[in-house]
Amino acid sequence: MYAFRPSGDELTCDDVALAAIAASVGTPTYVYSAATLRERIAALHAGFGDYPHALHYALKANSNLAVVRVVRAAGGFVDANSGAEIEVALRAGCVPADIVFTGVGKTPAEIDRAVALGVKTINAESAGELERIAAAARRHGTVAPVALRVNPDIASGSHPHISTGLVTHKFGVPITKARAIVREAAAHAELRFVGLHVHIGSQMVGLDPLRRAATAVIGLAQELHDDGISVEHLDLGGGLGIAYDDESVPPLDAYAAALVDIVRPSGLTVVVEPGRAVAGPAGALLASVVDVKPRGDGTWFVVLDAGMSELLRPALYGAYHRIEAVTARDGAPVPCDIVGPICESSDVFGVGRSLPAPTVGLVVAVLDAGAYGSAMSSNYNRHALPAEVMVDGGAWRVVRRRQTVEEQLMCEE
Ligand SMILES: Cc1ncc(COP(=O)(O)O)c(C=O)c1O
Repeated sequence: MYAFRPSGDELTCDDVALAAIAASVGTPTYVYSAATLRERIAALHAGFGDYPHALHYALKANSNLAVVRVVRAAGGFVDANSGAEIEVALRAGCVPADIVFTGVGKTPAEIDRAVALGVKTINAESAGELERIAAAARRHGTVAPVALRVNPDIASGSHPHISTGLVTHKFGVPITKARAIVREAAAHAELRFVGLHVHIGSQMVGLDPLRRAATAVIGLAQELHDDGISVEHLDLGGGLGIAYDDESVPPLDAYAAALVDIVRPSGLTVVVEPGRAVAGPAGALLASVVDVKPRGDGTWFVVLDAGMSELLRPALYGAYHRIEAVTARDGAPVPCDIVGPICESSDVFGVGRSLPAPTVGLVVAVLDAGAYGSAMSSNYNRHALPAEVMVDGGAWRVVRRRQTVEEQLMCEE
């Protein structure tokens, strides 16, 4: 069930009034539903059924410790995209075997740490990186489990900035070169080739590109098998979209079942790395109206205390988020653009919207902001990193308090 729903005059998160959270913690504040995180992990597991699979939640979407702990307890492992995300996963209770390490530009220190820890798989991005992983494994006297990320030259159909599977994109190695690269790297005694990896983009609302990518890596796995190299798993990345507006998006279980249909004849374990599809609908950003002013054309600007420094997606991708008042108000809807306070003309959350009687102090919820929301927030204009709240079992608690100016300045001279 969608967590952010009205109850009487109040918009709630799992029946906890968002207005009460805003009154207590202030705004901007992210609110997360633990129940939604659990439900979405459970739906994915159900879709895979008894087919061998592993869910590695993509930490880049939202790596708040409390979020990661809920996901882990629900049976999700993690996909880390940096050394720091590996450390977050460990602090959240993951063990190295729970961690897949991905990333287009791994530093020598990150590779060294991942090898020393013995993470489940390092998804390598190039022949050179495989060499560096082998060298690190040699130094540590160990064997590193690796997969090669391949670029299948398949269009995801989503926004160009979140498409990653064409040869013009920087990710992975062209699939046409992969067989030779794996054959060469597999000769290293310090590498164990456990998988192939593909991730062609994010916010995909159709399953066809995902099916095509899976088919491409299965073909490659077969070729490698013919060469005497048998991988154990296919890491099919993340990428399933969510309904930010009225898009029709395949449900989680249908997505999982579609992947199983393709992979089953190979018998290989499926690894997936969903981020947005797990965390997106589980979060909302609460913000307060700080100004309302006429545009001169009969419509209004409604200015919030949160902008692109708290939620970058609208400015970065022109992304759409529903925005609703957290308390029902009498009065005719007012046509408006809902904007942030940052000194950039791209700092706009919603154009051509309407809000009921917007006045200073009104609290609104920017919905479906659980993924790539807080994780992409910044100190631009010296905004504090926002507070974060977890709603769980009818209660709520602050899981990250609002940053202070002193904390922002702590690393400066
Ligand atoms: C390698 C990789 N895996 C998983 C993900 C998660 O994608 P999504 O949030 O669309 O599921 C990403 C996101 O960009 C990624 O780059």
